[in-house]
Amino acid sequence: MSGHGEAQPMKSRKSGPLQGVAEVPGDKSISHRSLIFGAMAVGETKISGLLEGQDVLDTAKAMRAFGATVTRHGQGIWTVNGVGVGGFREPEDVIDCGNSGTGVRLIMGTMATTPITATFTGDASLRKRPMGRVTDPLSLFGARAYGRQGGRLPMTVVGAANPVPVRYALPVASAQVKSAVLLAGLNAPGETVVIEREPTRDHSERMLVGFGAKLRVEKTAEGQVITLTGQPELRPQSVAVPRDPSSAAFPVCAALIVEGSDILVPGVSQNATRNGLYLTLVEMGADIAFQNPREEGGEPVADLRVRFSGDMKGIEVPPERAPSMIDEYPVLSVVAAYATGRTVMRGVKELRVKESDRIDAMARGLEACGVRVEEDEDTLIVHGMGPGGVPGGATCATHIDHRIAMSFLVCGLAAKAPVAVDDGSPIQTSFPVFEELMRGLGAEIERG
Ligand code: S3P
Repeated sequence: MSGHGEAQPMKSRKSGPLQGVAEVPGDKSISHRSLIFGAMAVGETKISGLLEGQDVLDTAKAMRAFGATVTRHGQGIWTVNGVGVGGFREPEDVIDCGNSGTGVRLIMGTMATTPITATFTGDASLRKRPMGRVTDPLSLFGARAYGRQGGRLPMTVVGAANPVPVRYALPVASAQVKSAVLLAGLNAPGETVVIEREPTRDHSERMLVGFGAKLRVEKTAEGQVITLTGQPELRPQSVAVPRDPSSAAFPVCAALIVEGSDILVPGVSQNATRNGLYLTLVEMGADIAFQNPREEGGEPVADLRVRFSGDMKGIEVPPERAPSMIDEYPVLSVVAAYATGRTVMRGVKELRVKESDRIDAMARGLEACGVRVEEDEDTLIVHGMGPGGVPGGATCATHIDHRIAMSFLVCGLAAKAPVAVDDGSPIQTSFPVFEELMRGLGAEIERG
């Protein structure tokens, strides 16, 4: 089933060595935030390297609906003329965030402390996902939310006319919830405090400081305490969006499992809140060289030289690493299928509320490809079959989930028989050039 429009079946088959340079697109998390923070600043924010995937385009459209002027000047080059903190106007129509949990949750936070009303919806995947995790803390500011049962979209949020600042300890490790609370706190007087037990991606904190907000982070016995001073005037910025480490994961993992491969993936973020997959792959015995470390767009990055790794071993992934690699478990489970021994992924129940139930989607698809898996609510265990050992020869259901689609297409590149996916169209949400980029490296991926 596709989100909007026609399903696009795709297939991949055993390929010769992958070679060349894989320039992956801009980071999705930073792209959403550059548009939203730009809309909250007074004046013109300039963005380069913006990811032009559907999720981000939906956020750009939403920012226009709330009154910002958002203009595309060329590939990845955009400007945003913001309306200032508290300056959002009431949208005339429903805000459709498509497939994007990040888009809808961050935008709900941003409008929740302004006295306007907005109704949000999304595609069939997004309409199944829980919004209560965001609307619960937003109600503490004085906002009200009316959605379907279980806090599902479509949902109307009535922003608080007289917001009060909040102190909120995150019940789940979620950068989206943390960011929604911080964005709401921007238009509340006084100090809004968010406490997270495990650190999650910190792009909102870094960018808020860059846009001129007063924010401090302290490590305490309770965890990380983030304090934001409300009602700042945000200054417009020039944002150079670094490449997305979550997209880089696909060519990297493909090169590790396809015999003879040797590729270069430049500018991959080494931000400690995003690099868990890369630490894990190295522990498994992956041949990855981290070359030319430097800073780009305010993020630590390196160029990754990745070679086929025929002697990877299954490991126990430390559960506390989960927030720093939460989007990478699907493709890690594919690498695990080509390693020797068991890879144990515990503490991963958040995967059940992503674009699809990713534990279930990966378990069913890998089983269909002939791989033994075990799962429970919070765990996925993959029994490796060694290099080239996955039988394949199955069609896997993607459940409107881009990362599930790309993971199984990677799986097919080293399997004995081709692997198909029922719908590759969701790949457009985060990695519109995936097919072209992978084919350029020598991957045999086709439509139909
Ligand atoms: C994101 C946070 C993560 C991640 C998503 C992007 C963000 O979600 O899965 O792809 O940009 O803040 P959660 O906050 O729900 O863990």
